[in-house]
Amino acid sequence: MTTSTVRFLLNNDDVTIQNIDPNLTVLQYLREIQFKSGTKEGCASGDCGACTVVLAELDAEEKQLNYKSINSCITFVGSLHGKQLITVEDLKDGAKLHHAQQTIVDNHGSQCGFCTPGFVMSSFSLHKHNQTPNRAEVLEALAGNLCRCTGYRSIIEAAITSSEHTEQDSFAQHYQQTISKLIELQKLPKPVLSGNNHQYVAPKNIDELAYELTNEPDSKLVAGGTDLALSVTQNLAVIDKLVYVGNVEELTTMTETESDIIIGSALPYSKFIDTLHHYYPELGDMIERIGSKQVRNTGTLGGNIGNASPIGDMPPALIALGASMTLHLNGEERTILVEDYFVDYKKTVLKPSEFIKSIQIPKPTAGQTLKLYKISKRIDDDISAVLAAFFIEQKDDSDKTKITNVRFAFGGMAGIPKRASATEQVLQGKSLDKESVAQAKLALATDFQPMSDVRASDKYRMKVAQNLIEKCYLEMQNRTIETRVMNYA
Ligand SMILES: Cc1cc2nc3c(=O)[nH]c(=O)nc-3n(C[C@H](O)[C@H](O)[C@H](O)COP(=O)(O)OP(=O)(O)OC[C@H]3O[C@@H](n4cnc5c(N)ncnc54)[C@H](O)[C@@H]3O)c2cc1C
Ligand code: FES
Ligand code: FES
Repeated sequence: MTTSTVRFLLNNDDVTIQNIDPNLTVLQYLREIQFKSGTKEGCASGDCGACTVVLAELDAEEKQLNYKSINSCITFVGSLHGKQLITVEDLKDGAKLHHAQQTIVDNHGSQCGFCTPGFVMSSFSLHKHNQTPNRAEVLEALAGNLCRCTGYRSIIEAAITSSEHTEQDSFAQHYQQTISKLIELQKLPKPVLSGNNHQYVAPKNIDELAYELTNEPDSKLVAGGTDLALSVTQNLAVIDKLVYVGNVEELTTMTETESDIIIGSALPYSKFIDTLHHYYPELGDMIERIGSKQVRNTGTLGGNIGNASPIGDMPPALIALGASMTLHLNGEERTILVEDYFVDYKKTVLKPSEFIKSIQIPKPTAGQTLKLYKISKRIDDDISAVLAAFFIEQKDDSDKTKITNVRFAFGGMAGIPKRASATEQVLQGKSLDKESVAQAKLALATDFQPMSDVRASDKYRMKVAQNLIEKCYLEMQNRTIETRVMNYA
């Protein structure tokens, strides 16, 4: 049986929605249907954080709640099913402000106030999963929120002070009750929503997902929506049928074998970043620069590869690591290398009704080095002009260390994320030294003819990509040299 409804908790109220266009975002729903205008719209594209709300979700064991900040402007309303939505209106306990709010007052953290609800919600979310954050963690939590007038120092101080509060808020007091209510919602059949002749469905397992896509190949898959929703909010596209993959069990797990880390395509970044950081610290650091906390709380690997953008950050890294991906079509599966997925600008080998199930990343072994460089105008919350991913495997050969395996992949240098095969050929079997690096830099000019756009000119792209090869070499020669500026605050 299928309910043609979506049910969730709006703070503590059990809310059912039906006959609503599934193209509606959570922000539009809050402001235009619930008339809760505390949540603001700044950019409607995930960049400013004014629309930040918090979702509480059950963990896999259904024993704990995970509180995550999200951008409501780029989240479709259907994905609320089975979750608790908390907005800035819900924080106050009677007449008493929540400490995430009171500390903003005490630290003079607000002037015009337009950004304030978003900052408060990011600070609230941080407090819910980390009561002893260090300064870097506070900055990470707030990096997706922009303020045009107050200045960040007082807002940062407010968030630090808020996190130190130990008294129980109303959410802690209702914790078990909320868990019980969400467990009940989880037992409901898969949610379906329709309105304005547009449909939304959220399958619960891979067979249901395959069925939906086989029946209606023109359906549009949505995971975090951090890419797809922009086509609705910015390009005014209307999607006839959305199929949400965030509830599909097989796509939202992470497992490890002796040799691989297997990440479900619909698992958000924030759920696998620590594991990848453990095996590949540079990869963990790079993922921390994908969007903002809000974007990483919902954005997925499946979406990052699935959108086939030439400037997506993960594909070059995955290609350099020799990662593979499993594709699923109506019960049949095939596994291909990530590098073989991309055919041409925004064209992939994905067949109609086929979807990405998982991504397999090999674990590191001795003698391997992964170096990643993201070139963007800002450290946080910015799209790459160039992403360079270098994987080098070396072995001692008589008196020299030789490169036995090399994979260099770039984003932003071509219409697809792509390996630099001529450059690799120059380095294969050689020692990594000044001479081979100079030859590699020359060879790179034959691998790519980058384009100019708002992010960078073709000449800049080529120059910076060549220089990154040299930077990689210098970092590998002398690991004590400080070559990266990461802290500005
Ligand atoms: C403010 C902001 C900052 C960003 N910063 C970065 C950044 O720094 N680096 C970066 O790389 N990206 C960035 N992005 C882009 C985006 O967040 C990422 O690409 C993210 O990984 C997309 O994942 P998603 O789950 O939200 O994708 P969605 O929007 O849900 O989907 C994207 C596309 O992939 C398809 N898709 C989704 N899942 C599957 C699947 N399982 N199989 C096949 N197709 C699928 C969808 O149909 C859609 O076409 C940013 C976006 C925003 C809004
Ligand atoms: S309105 Fe700017 S991030 Fe949502
Ligand atoms: S207080 Fe005005 S934008 Fe932050």
